[in-house]
Amino acid sequence: MTGNEIRRKFLDYFERSGHKVVHSSPLLPANDPTLLFINAGMNQFKDVFLGLEKRDYKRAVTSQKCLRAGGKHNDLDEVGKTARHHTFFEMLGNFSFGDYFKNEAIEYAWDLLVNEFELEVNRMWFTYFEGDADVPADTEARDLWIKMGAAPERVLPFGKKDNFWQMGDTGPCGPCSEISYYLGDAPNDPEKNSPFWVNGPGDTTVEIWNLVFVQYNRTQEPDGSFKLTPLPTPSVDTGMGLERMTMVMQNVKTNYETDLIRPIVEFTAELAEPIANRSFGI
Ligand code: GLY
Repeated sequence: MTGNEIRRKFLDYFERSGHKVVHSSPLLPANDPTLLFINAGMNQFKDVFLGLEKRDYKRAVTSQKCLRAGGKHNDLDEVGKTARHHTFFEMLGNFSFGDYFKNEAIEYAWDLLVNEFELEVNRMWFTYFEGDADVPADTEARDLWIKMGAAPERVLPFGKKDNFWQMGDTGPCGPCSEISYYLGDAPNDPEKNSPFWVNGPGDTTVEIWNLVFVQYNRTQEPDGSFKLTPLPTPSVDTGMGLERMTMVMQNVKTNYETDLIRPIVEFTAELAEPIANRSFGI
């Protein structure tokens, strides 16, 4: 399946289930001084999540251009070190604005990955928020994955760094649940396809999709501290890296080898070749 077909399949799947297909917003935020560049699909809906803006739809799906090269989500320092970071990427996402919540978000994710993209269940790992002093453990998300068919030992708790999502220091946020995928050639090896690699080192087990259960607005108080205020209507914000999903579907080892990026690398190499071969007389 090509990268373009994967994007189309994602948009079509959610359109069939009542989501409005909304165009990517430009990379420069129109009206948000808290962000330099768009860093997630939910940015263009920030005020909708906060209840400050109403749209004539309660479900949306997008393929959003994103740039993570600074601020809260900064991939710049990872470029060249990992197989899956390149600062500019496309994020596929489905959104519910006070419509469906955790149950349906997890059902859609399972159905799309298992039945439409036909990913192997024994290569998938699921994570949920383990809880802290401010936000309780999301055992509901854990139980829902197990109800869908995940083996209990493949559903893992993680802390705030991995399983609580916020777009910046302030704004809509909430506990999240991620799906990671084991890409290696030994799915039956309990050392290789193991929890150790989930949110761990290397690129063989990679996060492919993040489901955020948007429940709070994070604000800064005059004394500089931050406060979480529950939102009147819990919502859903998800983000799947198109290039990562394409790496999985095309069974290649890096995002750079997918048909989304490989032609750009080859084109650049062609341009660079005459320069590389030029003799400078030394
Ligand atoms: N907004 C969800 C994500 O960026 O993962």
